[in-house]
Amino acid sequence: MSIITVGTAPIEGQKPGTSGLRKKTRVFMGPHYLENFVAAIWEGIGGAEGRTFVLGGDGRYFNDRAAQVILRMAAAAGARKVIVGQNALLSTPAASNLIRQRGTDGGIILSASHNPGGPEEDFGVKFNMPNGGPAPEEVTDRIFAATKRISAYRILEAQDVDLSRPGVTRLGEMEVEVVDPVEAYRGLMARLFDFAAIRELIAGGFRVHFDAMHAVTGPYAKAILEDELGAPPGSVVNARPLPDFGGGHPDPNPVWAKDLIALMMGAEAPDFGAASDGDGDRNMIVGRGIYVTPSDSLAVLAANAHLAPGYAGGLKGVARSMPTSRAVDRVAEALGIPAYETPTGWKFFGNLLDAGLATLCGEESAGTGSDHVREKDGLWAVLLWLNILAVRREPVAAILAEHWRRFGRNYYTRHDYEAVDAARAGALMEGLAARLGSLPGTEVAGLRVAAADDFAYTDPVDGSRSEHQGIRVELEGGGRIVYRLSGTGTVGATLRVYLEALETDPARLGLDPAAALAPVIAAADAIAGIRAQTGRERPDVTT
Ligand code: G1P
Ligand code: ZN
Repeated sequence: MSIITVGTAPIEGQKPGTSGLRKKTRVFMGPHYLENFVAAIWEGIGGAEGRTFVLGGDGRYFNDRAAQVILRMAAAAGARKVIVGQNALLSTPAASNLIRQRGTDGGIILSASHNPGGPEEDFGVKFNMPNGGPAPEEVTDRIFAATKRISAYRILEAQDVDLSRPGVTRLGEMEVEVVDPVEAYRGLMARLFDFAAIRELIAGGFRVHFDAMHAVTGPYAKAILEDELGAPPGSVVNARPLPDFGGGHPDPNPVWAKDLIALMMGAEAPDFGAASDGDGDRNMIVGRGIYVTPSDSLAVLAANAHLAPGYAGGLKGVARSMPTSRAVDRVAEALGIPAYETPTGWKFFGNLLDAGLATLCGEESAGTGSDHVREKDGLWAVLLWLNILAVRREPVAAILAEHWRRFGRNYYTRHDYEAVDAARAGALMEGLAARLGSLPGTEVAGLRVAAADDFAYTDPVDGSRSEHQGIRVELEGGGRIVYRLSGTGTVGATLRVYLEALETDPARLGLDPAAALAPVIAAADAIAGIRAQTGRERPDVTT
């Protein structure tokens, strides 16, 4: 086995976005593409020599090949050891947990999250820090800078490592430890939650249905929900991870998980339904006959987390991404704990969690998590819900109704305009930014604008500043419109419009969300001229 040095040249556009570098799989499979980026990671983190890393991914097409390349490059870079999930599989939260539990120098996660997989679909590579969380901008900037001046990379010439069985092998000088991807994670969940109480709930006839969407959480959900908690076999469906996720979008929302929604709205609905995404960090929660928005889920979890052993001491604080509805803010107020508003992307929660300022955090995009790892965690959210249900013994719908009576209801929806011409989308945002000063006090579609700004965030821990994180338009009466461009799209620009209306009148807590939000939706179009500027009559995706 020898280390070879391969000459290369910088490749355009290797700039990590909201969550690592995401591109079409074919792009990643192109000559030197993956290798250049991995070499840039080593450089961006100050070298791999003598270090230990975690490696795994969501099992999408090219996951297995990419893992072998990364192992050979880690060996060539002098890494001491790489801990790899069996068959190169690790859910994102499980990878985060392994990095923390084993005290490694970080890890590489192969995933494009909820984007479809396959040779014509998406692939991604992300570096996580020793705290288990995504690399902060300062590090991803260094990685990007390294991609722009690369001229060679080093790789070991070797056969593939057998990743199909747990155990320790060597690759050149480097140790490779293949681990069961589920075991350490299952142990963590057992410490946070009252498994005995959940087991008893399920034994009493409570029916759980989990859709793994042919993605990485299949083995996790089977091991925990079925084997450990006693849900009957078949409670976890689409449990086998497939390279193309069975041809679907592994995105747990009412659009892509419509079978689950149909089941939960039907006459034979189980008591509790849930789904997770490609890499297992997102979640969707559905009660019998009721969909729980991610923003509401965060608020309900914050209000009830103390019912689970891992959170019995109460929460230090909560954090939500700016576009997430403000439902959780009122829970924090009632609990007398701080609520933080951060830019979109899980990486902004890391400092708050590390510093002990927040315990729970969440995003409207179906991400919820806590300080147990430094990523959002789909199955964790499902288990916290189940723990709460095991204690409260009420239907999901009753828990939500009581929550809204106590805190008010934030009707919420998100409209996505996908693959919009990037120049047009940019012009829309710039036009909005230019008019921010003149908006307050004006009346639009029957609603009055209370305030408007271009969201900027100063991290309370390290003082770093992130600007242009989305346009916020606050309406009188507690409503809000947020406009921002996606940082994870792979084609053109995706305009996201987040719409929120607050209702505290007890007689108006059970409205159809679309009806409750109609005036806000009209105002959003009137303010930004979405239809005129994008040429689109309606959003491509409404969640
Ligand atoms: C999207 C979500 C965001 C999430 C990210 C990674 O990013 O909106 O909440 O953190 O995916 O899963 P966006 O495409 O909006 O930049
Ligand atoms: Zn994900």
